[in-house]
Amino acid sequence: MKLSVLGCGYLGAVHACAMASMGHEVVGFDVSVDRIATLSSGTAPFYEPELEDLLTEGLSSGKLTFTTDVKDLETSTVHFLTVGTPQKENGTAADLTQVYAAVNSLIPLLTAESIIIGKSTVPVGTAQKLATMIRPTGARLVWNPEFLREGWAVRDTILPDRIVVGTGASTEDKSAAQVVRQIYQRQITTGTPYIETDFATAELVKVAANAFLATKISFINAMAEISDAVGADVVQLADALGHDTRIGRKFLGAGIGFGGGCLPKDIRAFIATADQLGVGESLNFLKEVDLINQRRRTHVVNMVTQALGGEVRNKRVAVLGASFKPHSDDIRDSPALEVAIRLHNKGADVIVTDPVAIDKARKGAPQLTFEQSRDLAIQNADVIVVATEWDEYRGQLDPEQVSDLTDGRIIVDCRNALTPGDWISCGWQYFGMGRR
Ligand code: UDX
Repeated sequence: MKLSVLGCGYLGAVHACAMASMGHEVVGFDVSVDRIATLSSGTAPFYEPELEDLLTEGLSSGKLTFTTDVKDLETSTVHFLTVGTPQKENGTAADLTQVYAAVNSLIPLLTAESIIIGKSTVPVGTAQKLATMIRPTGARLVWNPEFLREGWAVRDTILPDRIVVGTGASTEDKSAAQVVRQIYQRQITTGTPYIETDFATAELVKVAANAFLATKISFINAMAEISDAVGADVVQLADALGHDTRIGRKFLGAGIGFGGGCLPKDIRAFIATADQLGVGESLNFLKEVDLINQRRRTHVVNMVTQALGGEVRNKRVAVLGASFKPHSDDIRDSPALEVAIRLHNKGADVIVTDPVAIDKARKGAPQLTFEQSRDLAIQNADVIVVATEWDEYRGQLDPEQVSDLTDGRIIVDCRNALTPGDWISCGWQYFGMGRR
């Protein structure tokens, strides 16, 4: 099939490369000249395992091209909408400027054969508005939300765990879903669940999924607060809860809380949508979810301060990890980076290290000191803060070797990623999240 992908951010760049790898002819469009130049040169604009391989393969096979000229999308009948929907600068709702700009720029190219497949995360009701906008052209719209995780984005795009397609109400609108079935034919025939629904349900599936995941994380972080108060161990608690198959162990990792470009902004946008719909009460609990999450960052800053005897000024703090999670160089709303900044603001001498995110982190927080080498970052640190659970810090941090790098003997494990006994037996003070 000949496909276009509008918006080559995280979602769109991965989607374009993945679609080309599935044999489709793809043209990726973005208004950013820099972004298109980077992609056209075969360079992945962000760290994402497997992405660069697919990009170079797609470019050299000729199946994948990129453009800043919307007219180059004229020969595609299927247009994926993958632009960003960031949080509004002056509020918590989603900013849909890019969504409407992309659809407006497409309208002159649309014919009765055209299909737009919306993938961006949007407030419920948006798809219906867009469908009304394009109606005079005869083109049709379906909504096919994306559930990819950063760090697993290629795999999640090619092997999604479900395919959800929302359509308009008429028989003709519903028939447009056939295009999605064709694109994902291989996945559907090999058993990927396929769910066809109306627009509103499809839009809701995405935000509801993210709200549920955020709630699960904040739930276990609330249990960490209680565990701290009573001297219980939240990791054992999560293990025991996780054996209940109705609950499951995934996303019960207590720690510094969730960050990134999706979960925080998506739950806030969801709350704003519910308020606008007059059902704000239904999502009041998500405000608590957000508050619990914010408290985790404060908790870590307080813990480091207490561990240092109440004063961080001029103390050397090694922060291991800057990205919001491992296998990603994304620093958007990163709890690790925020903790580093807050400790720096309190006068600590903070050194941040990360396997892949240093360049982005330096741009986002130029006031901090960065060190590529983990061991150099740790050298002479009064306290080590494990803020992102990269393998380099979780499995490969040996307390005996680390003891040779510094006389400091305090480690704060913001992700419960270490084995406390290993550190304690080497003479370290170990501070976990919700663990004695
Ligand atoms: C998320 C959703 O998982 C994905 O389906 C959606 O499409 C986009 O948003 P992503 O932002 O890549 O994906 O990150 P995710 O893996 O969900 O992690 C989000 C945050 O939660 C990270 O900061 C992570 O460290 C944190 N987290 C995750 C925890 O604190 N504890 C856990 O147990 C799991």
